[in-house]
Amino acid sequence: MLYHIKLSKEMLNGAKIAVLPGDPGRVKTLAEIFDSNSTFLAQNREYTSYLSKIGNEHVVTCSTGIGGPSLSIAVEELAQLGIKYFIRPGTTGGLQEKIDIGDFIISTGAVRLDGASTHFAPINYPAVPSFDVASSLVEACKNLNLNYHTGITASSDTFYPGQERYNTYSRYVVRHLQGTMDEWKKLNVLNFEMEAATLFTMTSSMGLKAGCVCAVIANRTRSEKPDDTVLKNVEINLGKIVKETILILVNK
Ligand code: URA
Repeated sequence: MLYHIKLSKEMLNGAKIAVLPGDPGRVKTLAEIFDSNSTFLAQNREYTSYLSKIGNEHVVTCSTGIGGPSLSIAVEELAQLGIKYFIRPGTTGGLQEKIDIGDFIISTGAVRLDGASTHFAPINYPAVPSFDVASSLVEACKNLNLNYHTGITASSDTFYPGQERYNTYSRYVVRHLQGTMDEWKKLNVLNFEMEAATLFTMTSSMGLKAGCVCAVIANRTRSEKPDDTVLKNVEINLGKIVKETILILVNK
């Protein structure tokens, strides 16, 4: 039994694929989209897990909590239990005008603004997804006729200063982060989120495979605030994308 996720090899029934939403409250919804007979496995701290069957594959959906440190624990422990593929369905803030609320972003790389990834590989090591997983995510969005973008994501350790939000208690962003949102935008970074860089650095460096698809819930060129009216809809679409991606991946 692994310390934080409270899962064992037996409980995963040979699963090689894990789905990693951040939000524990999203796990059951996703698992039920994958398989109406999904079963609850465990709940401890931010780690809630369900087991589903997609095609002939057992798939574990396990929440990671917010940010690299808690995600790193889930990935480490799931890897110890035999997971080889990690797919993160998340939410994100778009940085380019062309990106609309409700669109999806498939990361082809992540700017390592996090701290956790540096505990796994030096900072000049690239944070990139598996080509197989990223291309399957693209194929899935195409098959489902959903609006998607591919490109570079910036993964920040913080939601507020690291993503240059000023609608905070102090209304202040430290100097070294002032102007960074505009700079990432000018450098063609598509979006801000908080986990992809840690996930990609860990998995690439350990010989594992990962991909990340995020639903856009804020457009930072227009507002600092996420739009939560779209959450239910994007959650369902994220579930459909991940299910389709897994069916594509296992038939490759
Ligand atoms: N998640 C983030 O990290 N940032 C956003 O703006 C929205 C979701």
